[in-house]
Amino acid sequence: MNFELSEEHLAVQQAARDFAQTELLPGVIERDEHQKFPAEQIKKLGELGFLGMMVDPKYGGSGMDTMSYVLAMEEISKIDASCSVVMSVNNSLVCWGLETFGNEEQKQKYLVPLAKGEIIGAFLLSEPEAGSDATSQRTTAEDKGDHYLLNGTKNWITNGNSASVYLVMAQTDVAKGHKGINALIVEKNSPGVTVGKKEDKLGIRGSDTHSIMFQDVVVPKENRIGEDGFGFKFAMKTLAGGRIGIASQALGIASGAYELALKYSKERKAFGTEIMNHQAIAFKLADMATEIEASRLLCLKAAWLKDQHLDYDRASSMAKLFASETAMKTAVEAVQIHGGYGYVKEYHVERLMRDAKITQIYEGTSEVQRVVISRSVLKG
Ligand code: CAA
Repeated sequence: MNFELSEEHLAVQQAARDFAQTELLPGVIERDEHQKFPAEQIKKLGELGFLGMMVDPKYGGSGMDTMSYVLAMEEISKIDASCSVVMSVNNSLVCWGLETFGNEEQKQKYLVPLAKGEIIGAFLLSEPEAGSDATSQRTTAEDKGDHYLLNGTKNWITNGNSASVYLVMAQTDVAKGHKGINALIVEKNSPGVTVGKKEDKLGIRGSDTHSIMFQDVVVPKENRIGEDGFGFKFAMKTLAGGRIGIASQALGIASGAYELALKYSKERKAFGTEIMNHQAIAFKLADMATEIEASRLLCLKAAWLKDQHLDYDRASSMAKLFASETAMKTAVEAVQIHGGYGYVKEYHVERLMRDAKITQIYEGTSEVQRVVISRSVLKG
């Protein structure tokens, strides 16, 4: 077993780190405060190949492995989690879903511009009454022969307004339960699509979260991904990879908060010495460093399994569960180490603490991850 990163991995990590420092750090506090979508920054990320990282170059992607994706996600998330959620959704839900399960025409028409970052995509599964209970889809896609007629409402949609392409899960045959769900590619500018108000969120405030309404939207049959009734499996398989992305986002939030706390502990003096010399602080830093390292290993292990085409469902849920709990805990401790300064915006840790919370909620709550893990563990 080799724990060393390759030259290529180190280069991707460095490129993402440089981008985060030069392009994301300036303005991150203002974007958070004014809920400003990082449009220019996302455009540049796309030009650098970070929005279609794992897509085959023949479809406009960067052809990298999932481990590179984890490393890049960590670096971007250390500075701006509002930006990294856009990156995560586009890479692992939208591009991966289309590349793995889409047909050639769908890939040429939609995947190529998405992978190049010319447009971005969104993944529409959650509904007002179907969050964790994802099989209970109320949005309907009525089969009309050569097209589907789409009606319903989706909630909490990341990239809701900024995306041009939606991957929408909808129920075609209620009698078949989850086997009657289809995954449809819907263009945002289709007649009958309405973007609801932007959610005013606790964290990742720069990201663009909306509800989306569909009223008699005509979706051509050729826009269905996979066979009739494949939609729920499509969503579950795609989310298993997406959870590696969000686990890496959580890892980045944790390591960003930790690095700030470490730096502050070396500078700030109290009781006649730098606060790092007090065991109360040193032990906190030791716990943070240990849990972050464990999170990183879980993320990289899940990514490695995916790259080897081995089963990674359990590993991705473990990575997401552990890294998101670590992000929350670490960010809270980073605020504590900063004392009063931690409570004000210019020290960044209060934002990281607010951003950390969503990693325990989206792409499956911590409870959902425990469902996935416990089922796998009990199966033996
Ligand atoms: N791969 C393939 N198939 C899978 C699968 C997987 N990983 N997981 C489940 N399935 C299949 C099952 O085999 C089953 O099929 P069969 O009946 O043919 O055997 C079917 O899907 C239903 O599975 P379950 O019986 O396990 O379903 P359940 O109702 O018990 O739910 C759950 C399981 C894990 C709770 C699931 O509903 C779930 O993951 N919920 C959370 C949804 C979620 O993550 N939403 C996030 C929204 S997207 C988002 O947040 C993006 C963003 O904006 C950042």
